[in-house]
Amino acid sequence: MREFEAKNRYFDELFSTKGLYWLGQNTNHLPMHPAVKQALRDAVEAEEFHAYAPPAGFEELRRLILQDLGIEGASVYCTDGAVEGLYIACRTLAEPGDTFVTTDPGWKWPVAFTRAAGAKVIEIPIYDPAAKFKLTPAQLEAAVTPTTKLIYIVDPNNPLGIRYEAQEIEAFCAIAKRAGAYLIHDCTYRHFADGHTLAWRFYPERTIVTYSFSKWLGLAGLRVGAVVAHPDLIERLAAAPPNTLGGSVIAQKAAIAGLKIKDSWFPGVQALQRRNQDAMRQAVAKVPGLAMPIYPSHGNFVIIDVTQAGITPEALVDAYREQGVMIRQGSYHSKTCGHRFVKVSTTVPEDWSARFCALLPRMAEAARGRNQVGPLF
Ligand SMILES: Cc1ncc(COP(=O)(O)O)c(C=O)c1O
Repeated sequence: MREFEAKNRYFDELFSTKGLYWLGQNTNHLPMHPAVKQALRDAVEAEEFHAYAPPAGFEELRRLILQDLGIEGASVYCTDGAVEGLYIACRTLAEPGDTFVTTDPGWKWPVAFTRAAGAKVIEIPIYDPAAKFKLTPAQLEAAVTPTTKLIYIVDPNNPLGIRYEAQEIEAFCAIAKRAGAYLIHDCTYRHFADGHTLAWRFYPERTIVTYSFSKWLGLAGLRVGAVVAHPDLIERLAAAPPNTLGGSVIAQKAAIAGLKIKDSWFPGVQALQRRNQDAMRQAVAKVPGLAMPIYPSHGNFVIIDVTQAGITPEALVDAYREQGVMIRQGSYHSKTCGHRFVKVSTTVPEDWSARFCALLPRMAEAARGRNQVGPLF
């Protein structure tokens, strides 16, 4: 079977598993705010979707996104999820002969997008406790050359959950500026971080900020997000994008409603997901060989290092899957360090997290010696 067919069946099967505990994709499964649900219902009821949305998104949504980021002078271009914004940026800006610099681990899709555009990719290893699992300015400086066109920083990092300090972001910006490179600041998990700094502050002329509604608001399946950058740069990205007929009307209405209730609703989500992180940390500490090297995570997920437990991430994922719980193997994120960890989402109901914790000793045991694991994606 072709790989994409196998992958599609895999996710289709997960989706149709009744009562599946989704702890594998950093999605948000907490109950939605009633006002957001109502906005969805209203948009459907009024059949607003017969018309195309404005190409860059509803003006109200664009305004609210800028307000949420707390920046001025930037332009917002709404996309079908942040991933489409990444696609547009990578495919518009990267050309054959250019270099794209990012971290390993990080998020693999922009790597694929720039490779498809003919650019060379450099992935800087950061799975290193000695450097607190972070890219250092010295590492970035050493990797950047005159051919570097794009630097892609995932901050907070998926899968690690680290986030950068203001001085580190400032240093990355200075390096990008000296090289004349664009800096893509992937801020998909920004809302879960303590004290996040936008690169836009230091390098507004060539920073592209990505914005997602999938994680903090829980709209992953509705597909809405944005890229935010200098108006001249957005003008370039908006010239020939795949969503030139606008994004989903319904999703944008839900996003607008979400931004309006965010200040009162989101702190409760954050408190809950941090409690889930803590419960998982305690469960991990009780199983010999397992470790949670980064705590607290500044994302809505944690990684669990399995290297000292004598099991593979794939075996653990497989064992949990048999119990109706989806977690993610590290190899989704990295060929070089993906064999070390699994990743578990924390924006889930407390009883899901409790089930994950209660099962952990038994699943670690079940994973031992399990060599035959089907393909995982
Ligand atoms: C780092 C990173 N960037 C972008 C995305 C895509 O976000 P969206 O669902 O808004 O397309 C994800 C989704 O998992 C992600 O982890």
